[in-house]
Amino acid sequence: MTVDLTTEYLGLTLKNPLVVAASPVTADVGTLQQAEAAGASAAVLPSLFEEQIVHEEVEFNAAFERGAESSPEAMSYFPEPQEYRLGRDVYLDHIREAKRAVSIPVIASLNGTSEGGWIRYATLMEEAGADAIELNIYFIAADVTQTGAQVERQYLDLISAVKESISIPLSAKVGPQFSSPGNMALRMVEAGADGLVLFNRFLQPDVDLDELAVTPRLTLSTSAEMLLPMRWIAILRGQTDASLALTSGVHSGGDLAKALLAGADVAMVASSLLQEGVGHIETILIWLRQWMEAKQYDSVEQLKGSVSQASCSNPKAFERGNYMKALTQPIGDPA
Ligand SMILES: Cc1cc2nc3c(=O)[nH]c(=O)nc-3n(C[C@H](O)[C@H](O)[C@H](O)COP(=O)(O)O)c2cc1C
Repeated sequence: MTVDLTTEYLGLTLKNPLVVAASPVTADVGTLQQAEAAGASAAVLPSLFEEQIVHEEVEFNAAFERGAESSPEAMSYFPEPQEYRLGRDVYLDHIREAKRAVSIPVIASLNGTSEGGWIRYATLMEEAGADAIELNIYFIAADVTQTGAQVERQYLDLISAVKESISIPLSAKVGPQFSSPGNMALRMVEAGADGLVLFNRFLQPDVDLDELAVTPRLTLSTSAEMLLPMRWIAILRGQTDASLALTSGVHSGGDLAKALLAGADVAMVASSLLQEGVGHIETILIWLRQWMEAKQYDSVEQLKGSVSQASCSNPKAFERGNYMKALTQPIGDPA
């Protein structure tokens, strides 16, 4: 039996549901090519950050003004604006190089929180050849005077502004921290997101006891982390036609199968590839294919969402009732 692994994501037909997440794997054209060879169906490039764009612009303008105030001779040493190479230009070059190097879709990532001139990079990313844009809204609501409604408005306005500036598909990658994540998800789709990438992993700063200082801490995920996005994808599938990508905690073929059963169109992986190497993509896909054959699934389309809240035999399993049941189960047993 041949199993059809193709899936639709953001209007793109992908050869299978395994996408490389924004990460160091896609920062290098060599590893990107290895990922394609191992079977990845699309790749998200690492993010270009709002701060990076804004900071470079401020620095550049200040330097240029300093140059303009000095002697004409000094000015002649100063590069013309169009010759001045900045991280953001390198990013656009990386999109072009990636597009030349691989034939799978390449998704560019913009990472920011507020509306502003930096958004025009979405248009530049499209012009550089990106097949879609992933807008990562990595927002920490640290201003305690800002209400939840104001924070949500900021997300929606940003999504609308980016959507208006491009004609390629747009996805929004966000965290789970809303009072009503499902309602917010639907409003992000209304605002213009063609797909949602659920969820961002918010990296928690730690305290260094020797230095008595706050230190940033990046840890790789474990499979346990996929349960949170899986629940929300299961709840959302059936409520929206938008594309749904699950990110955080997909490490194995079994994890990918669960993501699809819950209703994800694709899973995006980073940690497992950093741990196991890019060749792990092939291992995951072989497992998925064999499992589908054993379960007599013909296609990913057929299996997608079959354990979503809308289609599973116990819709309450994704809600509060299951929590009470879990508390009475022996610890560690599946509820
Ligand atoms: C080293 C590293 C760098 C990352 N860089 C980015 C980034 O630039 N932009 C982004 O949206 N996500 C970034 N991520 C998050 C991943 O894309 C992914 O969503 C997250 O790691 C969860 O997936 P995982 O459990 O497979 O690691 C990064 C993750 C890691 C581990």
